[in-house]
Amino acid sequence: MKKQVINNVSWVGKNDWELRQFHGYEYSTNRGSTYNSFLIQEEKNVLIDTVFVPFAKEYVSNLASVIDLKKIDYIIVNHAEPDHSGALPELLSLIPDTPIYCTENAVKSLKGHYYKDWNFVTVKAGDKLSVGNGKDLIFIPAPMLHWPDSMFCYLTEDNVLFSNDAFGQHFCSELLFNDLVDQSELAEEAIKYYANILNPFSKFVTKKIDELIKLNLPIDYICTSHGVIWRDNPLQIVKKYAEWANNYQENQITVIYDTMYNGTRTIAENIVRGINIADKSINVKMYNAATNDKNDIITEILKSKAILMGSPTVNNGLMYATAGLLELIKGLKFINKKAAAFGCYGWNELASKKIDTLLREAGFEVILEPITSYWEPDADVIDKSIEYGKNFVSLL
Ligand code: FEO
Repeated sequence: MKKQVINNVSWVGKNDWELRQFHGYEYSTNRGSTYNSFLIQEEKNVLIDTVFVPFAKEYVSNLASVIDLKKIDYIIVNHAEPDHSGALPELLSLIPDTPIYCTENAVKSLKGHYYKDWNFVTVKAGDKLSVGNGKDLIFIPAPMLHWPDSMFCYLTEDNVLFSNDAFGQHFCSELLFNDLVDQSELAEEAIKYYANILNPFSKFVTKKIDELIKLNLPIDYICTSHGVIWRDNPLQIVKKYAEWANNYQENQITVIYDTMYNGTRTIAENIVRGINIADKSINVKMYNAATNDKNDIITEILKSKAILMGSPTVNNGLMYATAGLLELIKGLKFINKKAAAFGCYGWNELASKKIDTLLREAGFEVILEPITSYWEPDADVIDKSIEYGKNFVSLL
């Protein structure tokens, strides 16, 4: 099966409706995902990316029903992670000499994954490959969007940007194009994808978008490697990336906590009361780190101008879910966000102190010393928590 994108460009990928976790268990994919592979059939036949390893046989079999595999002139590997390169060993066992166009870093990555000495042709920024009928593919390396080997390529005349992971969504749909799907679902998945995958590389995103603008290429389609193709106002997602990459924040505060006997939750709820009293316009949200999807919480952090994080002390440290979340937050390198810590304790105040330290290490500006409660919060702690929420707002 193939689905036409435009003229002689077709989608020949795989829709993975069952996928619920990605990158191991690091990313929840509650709406599944797609592995988008594209076939250009001009005077030359060009395959752009493949699919995830588990679907290699199915993919190659499908591709063989679409085109005589021996007629594929070139393979483009925009990115070597196995969700895009996973069918190469199966495919190249049938057409072993087919040239693979990719970056130098992709060669290292492909050799590291598969230990094969395929017919690699390395490309640099601005290199062109003629596909015939007056059309060229222009290569645009995009290092760190989101791996060193990542690359875009652009098909002239049809004005298609093949952006690989950038501008993607883990969002399965049979509808193929952005204008055909539920817009709120698409928006949710696009920002979740940015927050959890691209956010650490925001500086590179900004630079690449500036470069794209300078290239002045007309773009009618953005074919990402996950989710739907942007064809209706395709630059809307580029504009969103430019916003998300540039100190993004909404008028939101997110309060994240874990709790054993509801003491730390009580502090959280009263901090929220204080925030509400201080400024009713702030969209303040509360998430229990242990019972909510960690990737959804990360998305909420991207939207926030400030966060508060709390845990009771357990085993001289903090609770598991908050500890894991803080490690994720550190790696995702949020910038321009303020924070503070809180928590209950029976032995010592280590949990809130550790959260305070870890938030600073993660690049947050901690604007208040932690608020803590010795055992369950009493009326005094509740009053102080409300005041704490008000103070927090006054310092933003
Ligand atoms: Fe979709 Fe970086 O792989």
